[in-house]
Amino acid sequence: MHIPDIIIAIDGYSSTGKSSFAKRIAREFSFNYLDSGAMYRAVTLFAMENGLISDDCKIDVDSLVKAMETLDVHFAEGGTFIGDRCVEQRIRCLDVADKVSPIAAVPQVRAYVDARLRELGARRRVVMDGRDIGTTVFPDAEIKVFMTADPLIRARRRADEMVAGGKNVDLESVLKNLQERDYIDTHRETSPLVKADDAVVLDNSHMTMDDQMVWIEELIAEKLCLR
Ligand code: CDP
Repeated sequence: MHIPDIIIAIDGYSSTGKSSFAKRIAREFSFNYLDSGAMYRAVTLFAMENGLISDDCKIDVDSLVKAMETLDVHFAEGGTFIGDRCVEQRIRCLDVADKVSPIAAVPQVRAYVDARLRELGARRRVVMDGRDIGTTVFPDAEIKVFMTADPLIRARRRADEMVAGGKNVDLESVLKNLQERDYIDTHRETSPLVKADDAVVLDNSHMTMDDQMVWIEELIAEKLCLR
């Protein structure tokens, strides 16, 4: 099936496997993959390292906004970079995950990330995952998926992934972190996590990646009348 130069937006709850799904789609359909969460995680790491967020997540918004004027977050070979430093591994740690949702709730941070994502997606043929891609960043995306799964299954998957990556985590902390992030993400004022009216729900609690690929190919064929 030849897929034209469209935008595929994959939004949904934490640890539902959005990025694994988006990466597989990118590989199989020759699309560019953009990880919007990685941008928020990189801004969070930057805020942590510059003392702009306290242990209890109080943010020095004015200083952060000022510092972001010269902040260069981008994607390159190896993943996410701040300037010429690869932060791909560092931003996946739980200390960053613990602070990312409060940072992502700051409207100026969202404006910064939205502008970067729109620039990167302007040439289309991209698959982007996040929380507000289909509602705010690319409301004109041709394909919109809203992913969900049972919380315990999500926590198990994320804990396994972190342990496999050599991180020392326990299931309970991971579950707590994803529930807290879901709460903040769905309750914030600016671009909360909400299903776009024209998004299609995918509950992958009991699906394999191959099942998901069959599912999305059918969705694309149907929406774009490709068969
Ligand atoms: O991988 P996981 O689903 O756990 O999270 P992520 O995609 O790396 O995103 C990390 C956090 O960034 C989320 O919990 C949100 O608070 C925030 N985020 C957002 O607000 N909007 C996006 N488009 C993407 C991420």
